[in-house]
Formats: sequence, structure tokens, C-alpha cells
Amino acid sequence: MSIKVSFVSKPLSKSDIILVILDETLELRSSIAILDKKYDGIISDTIKLKSLNSKKGSTLRLFASKGTVLQEILLYFIGDIKNYNIENGDRLGGTLFSSLPSSTSKLLVYFEPDKKLKIIKEELAARIAHGIKLRSYTFYKYKLKSKTKFKSLLKEITIIIKDTSLAKKYYSPLKYLEEGVYLTRNLVSEPANVLTPKALSEEAAKLKSLGIKIEILSLPQIKRLKMGALLGVAMGSANEPKVVSMSWNGTKNRKSKPAVCFVGKGVTFDTGGISIKPSGGMEDMKWDMGGSGVVIGLMKVLAGRRANAHVSAVVGLVENMPSGKAQRPGDVVIASSGHSIEVINTDAEGRLVLADAVTYAIKKFKPKRLIDLATLTGAVIVSLGPQRAGLFSNNDELANNIFASGEKTGEKVWRMPVGEEYDEDIKSAIADMKNVGSGRGAGATSGAKFIEQFTQSIPWAHIDIAGVTWSKTDSELYPVGGTAFGVRLLNTYVKDFIE
Ligand code: BES
Ligand code: MN
Ligand code: ZN
Repeated sequence: MSIKVSFVSKPLSKSDIILVILDETLELRSSIAILDKKYDGIISDTIKLKSLNSKKGSTLRLFASKGTVLQEILLYFIGDIKNYNIENGDRLGGTLFSSLPSSTSKLLVYFEPDKKLKIIKEELAARIAHGIKLRSYTFYKYKLKSKTKFKSLLKEITIIIKDTSLAKKYYSPLKYLEEGVYLTRNLVSEPANVLTPKALSEEAAKLKSLGIKIEILSLPQIKRLKMGALLGVAMGSANEPKVVSMSWNGTKNRKSKPAVCFVGKGVTFDTGGISIKPSGGMEDMKWDMGGSGVVIGLMKVLAGRRANAHVSAVVGLVENMPSGKAQRPGDVVIASSGHSIEVINTDAEGRLVLADAVTYAIKKFKPKRLIDLATLTGAVIVSLGPQRAGLFSNNDELANNIFASGEKTGEKVWRMPVGEEYDEDIKSAIADMKNVGSGRGAGATSGAKFIEQFTQSIPWAHIDIAGVTWSKTDSELYPVGGTAFGVRLLNTYVKDFIE
């Protein structure tokens, strides 16, 4: 069950915890002043204490009594209110959640910030609720006997605010954003024995109910379309590949072409194939479908919030396995674009899947631009770590807009090169190209360069999310596990630059 968020102008129901957010002025305004009076000045007395630590991020737990009833109050100090915006407002919500006692079920929040606030108070309140929702996610589906210990107990967040309808207006699209983020995190968390290409295509098909048009290509259709690059990867697996396309048109113009098509790598498990990976950490390769997971979650958000945009998507779903039927290093495959590819390394399979997915996306939708997402290379992790995703693009405007969306949401990217100087890298002696670079360096660029061959010169951006899709540590906005990096980034991109 998901957490219910509501905004009220007066506290009505009982809560386990009252959270009082105080800025650096330590002034007790409106509802907080009333609360303080109700509990005989416990808050105003406390903030007069000489030993008070009101530095940003510090907390103080109070137990106030009224008659025979004891009420727990948590003071949370947020420092200089002038510093708050959308991005750190989300993170504030996340950190608030982490400082709550784990037994909290009903949370009541008092927030009366100083007028110096740079964003609208109601918007910041909505962002705080959003941050709590993002941080409190857990994947507990397979905790069968130990569920209650693992799942967050939080059920209700109530925020006291004067203009409740304005707060609701700000929060309403964020609710759909949370649903998409949760879907993406669920998908990347699923093990590969459950989330096969077929199962993942069925998850995408569920979005039909939101008004998204869905088409699923099965093996015979994929063969008829001559997707030789994607089929080469799929050959070694007993699980048949799928290619899923989706479209959402929230504009009045029924005949328009999509403003953007999102394409996702959906390798449901990447063993490396015959160029097999070492066993240590190989379990991580269950989330090698992260790009497609983001694309599916993003489409859910856009349709959920009825985005005023025409967007489409394609995901290529395959499993990369070694077997007697698997493709070999040195094989030559022909992609649906007609290009021949020498497969030097069967572990560079994502780009092979994307070659046919991108070709199909452009042929089917004729989009104005294309953005692909893929857990494509270990090299991008070496370059950027888990802090930023790699951004590659043939178009400055598109790259700048994605970059700006990254800064705004905190899902940050860093632009890396895909210029002509790297053309030589993927030249093959016997085919039109090979699937790995010649030199040892610039591995993430070689991958981007390869995908670029299939983009037919339309404005294109490739986001290599190998380093940001899964987090090994808890963070302000997610626990260990799937981050859904890309959903919030591209939702903002659509909102700010397409709608
Ligand atoms: N899925 C991997 C990339 C990856 C590695 C994602 C680690 C997340 C964490 C991709 O298919 C791969 O194996 N890439 C190879 C390419 C190489 C063979 C050119 C790599 O990066 O080593
Ligand atoms: Mn691989
Ligand atoms: Zn892979």
C-alpha cells in the first residue's frame, strides 16, 4: 500500500509524530505558534536553550504532554531558507524521512517558512512530501516471512499549510512521477528468472489502460523486420526477444509526429554471452534492462499526468546468454538498417540491441528527436562514477536542455564527446563496423559512436546510465537498489522543453 499524502489547513486527526520544520530564524509562526501554546510553550522553551544545536540537518526529539496524553514532537532544523529550491526541497523530504523513528505510521508536518523563501511555500511543501515518498520506497515483494521488518511502516503524511488547494496543485503531478519512479525501481529490482523479455513486455502492456498505444513485436515479426543485430544477441537464450513500442499523444494535433522518441536497452540479463563475464558481481546484470525500465516508467508518468506532448518509445528486450546456439566473437550480423557488423565481443551487446531498436523507432515514428538510455559501458562508471550519467549528443541544443534538466532535478549528466575524431574507432576490416573500439581508451564514446551510426542524423542524445541505475548505498532520495535515474530527469525535460 502506498503512502497517502494530504494537505490540511488545521490538524484534525491524531498522529504518531509531529514534525516541526524550523528555519534559521527559529521564529514560531502561525500554526507552529498555536501548537506551541497547546503544549504549554515546550517548543519556545526548547529553542531558548543555550545548548540548542539548530545547525542545518540537526534534530531534537521532544515528548510533550497534554493531560494524560503524550505527544512526540520532532524538531527539524533546515538552516537558511533562502537556499531552498525544487532539487534540494526533494532531498530535504528524503532526509526528513531518514530521521523519523522507523515506527512512524502517521506523520503530521508543520512548516511555516520565513517570507524570504525563494520558491512558493506550497511548492516546497509538495516537494518535501515528494522527497519522503521517493526515499521511503522499498522492494519487499520477496521478503515473504520478514516483510514487516523490512517495509516502511509510514502510511500517511499530512502537511499543514494555509493554501491547501495550491499545495495539492503542485503535488498532483508529483504523485504520478512517484508512481513511474516506483514502477522503474520495481522493474530493475526484479530478478532475471522472473523478469524475462516476455514478462517485461507484459509490464509495458499494462500501460494501455492509461491511454498509451502499445505494440509488441514477437520473434517471427522481429525476424521479418530483419533485426539481425538484436537477434544475434538473443540467439543464445531460451527466452525469446521482444520489441515493444509505445506512444502517448496528449496534444490536440492527432496527426503530429512525436516531438521525441525514447529508446531503451532492455537486456534482462547480461552474462556477456560467449565473451562471458567473470562471476563476481554478475548478479548486477539483472538490472541491465535499466534503460528500458526508465523508458517504461517515464511513459507511465507522462500519460499519468496527461502531459501535453506527443512522445513515443521503443524498448529492445533480450537476454544475453552463452549456449550452443549463442553468437560467437567474429560473427558478422546484418542490422535492420542494412549495415553489417562484426561482433568482436559478445559482451558489447547493448549497442547491438539499440542498433535495431533505434532503426525501428525512426522508421515507425519519424520522431523530431531521439533520446536513448542504456546501461551501456563499464567505462562510463570509470569516468563519472555514480554521481553523473554520461551524455553524448550530435545536437548542442538537445544536449544543453538535457543537461539543464539534470541540474534542476539532481539527476545529473555530464557531456562527453562523440566527434569525428573517434570515427576510426569502430572501423572493421571485413564489415561496415565492429561492435567495440580499437584502442583501449574512450570505451563509453565507442559505444555512443556505434549507436550514432543508426540515428540517420536526426537530433539524438545517448545517456549511458551504467553508473547511476543501481545504488550500492542509501542516498537522500533512494535506499540501496534501483534509483530510476532518468525518470525524473526526462519528465522535467519534457515539461520544460516539449510541453
Ligand atoms: N551491461 C554492460 C555494461 C555495464 C557494466 C553496466 C557494469 C553496468 C555495470 C555492457 O553490456 C558491457 O558488458 N559492456 C562492456 C563493453 C565492452 C565489451 C566493449 C564493458 O563495458 O565492459
Ligand atoms: Mn555486456
Ligand atoms: Zn549489457
